[in-house]
Amino acid sequence: MLNNIFALKGTFCYSKDSQNLIIRENAYLICNNGISEGIYEELPACFQGIQVIDHTNKLIIPGLIDLHLHAPQYTFRGTGMDLELLDWLNTSAFPEEARYAESDYAQKAYQIFTEDLKQSPTTRACIFATLHTDATMILMDLLEDTGLKTMVGKVNMDRNAPSYLMEQNASTSAAATRQWIDAVSGRHYQNTFPILTPRFIPSCSDELLILLSEIQQEFHLPVQSHLSENPGEIHWVKELCPDSLFYGDAYDHFNLFGRDHCPTVMAHCVYSTEEEIALMKKQGVYIAHCPQSNTNLSSGIAPAARYLREGLHVGLGTDIAGGFSLSMLRAIADAIQVSKLRWRLVDPSLKALTLPEAFYMATIGGGSFFGKTGSFEKGYELDAVVLDDSSLPSPRSLPPLTRLERLISLSDSSNIIQKFVCGNSIFSNTEDR
Ligand code: GUN
Ligand code: FE
Repeated sequence: MLNNIFALKGTFCYSKDSQNLIIRENAYLICNNGISEGIYEELPACFQGIQVIDHTNKLIIPGLIDLHLHAPQYTFRGTGMDLELLDWLNTSAFPEEARYAESDYAQKAYQIFTEDLKQSPTTRACIFATLHTDATMILMDLLEDTGLKTMVGKVNMDRNAPSYLMEQNASTSAAATRQWIDAVSGRHYQNTFPILTPRFIPSCSDELLILLSEIQQEFHLPVQSHLSENPGEIHWVKELCPDSLFYGDAYDHFNLFGRDHCPTVMAHCVYSTEEEIALMKKQGVYIAHCPQSNTNLSSGIAPAARYLREGLHVGLGTDIAGGFSLSMLRAIADAIQVSKLRWRLVDPSLKALTLPEAFYMATIGGGSFFGKTGSFEKGYELDAVVLDDSSLPSPRSLPPLTRLERLISLSDSSNIIQKFVCGNSIFSNTEDR
């Protein structure tokens, strides 16, 4: 097979590690079969003659990773935000999710969602669907066609939900999950992968978690759920699981909390206790920090800077529709903002997140859940977003880092002119390719 080699030319911004942003001005990034060969000031002699996609003067960042969002909730983002989590679920989220029993509705709604996700700065995402198998397959088919790399979960919920959005019992929920896994394997997707998705402890009986753990071990699937998001929720989990030492322990009891065999993303972790933090660190659980959702649902402010600095895996999530913005650039800005309020109002010993730290979370931090993604260093899968900031004029020329800061705070989808996933251009608003 002939190698597909090309170069991207532009000004690259990416994380070396959580403290260091690298800027390479008007340089060449070589892509070899979807993998970065590194960045060069000049095109090396051995690559002379390859196609150069010229984005001189544009900023190019790694594709951003949305580690937590709910696709069916995209329809009501930005509305009904006066409630806390549990009331919001009952008032906004559950009634809307129930509509996805109708495939026609799912098709229409997911078409809008997937098109917007394609145009966003996100290249990879961990996505909750609903408990409906057919609608989840509709979502996965549409996502597959976008070229984005996603993990998608049919949601499990067999207790404490309205009858119109609840599986009959643990065994029907597990059977539907097996049927869904079967349907997915028949599709031979290249971009779209299943992830087990027990909604959260209040929605899942012990029997269901036992069956999901068996499925997890049989199919080696990753897991996503919610953890320690809201005080009322945490209190409820204590009542439901009196034998659990802390919320995360309730997942761990069923082997659904990290370790090598079970890659796990837990959204929120606003109120994780010392024991919970220690277990997440020990077992490599990924934290999806969702600052906008935690603000909108009055959940609180997660100590994301602490998690990152103590070496836990932390990425960012939009948590649509707890968060209203699908933009992961906005999530970076939000993470920094809420960390400043936390520092000022809650804990002066935990310094606010810096731009390099928040950028790292949105790229390598969440990207490592997908493998070697989130950076332009040699050997990484090449996901890239090309940003044009000419709609943000300045009377003087600005250094690249300042331009990146402005784009993080001020851009919208019109600033995104091309996006690559694994070296494939998945959309382009230029004539170059
Ligand atoms: N906990 C359980 N379900 C949900 C949900 O849909 N959104 C959020 N933010 N938290 C949850
Ligand atoms: Fe969520």
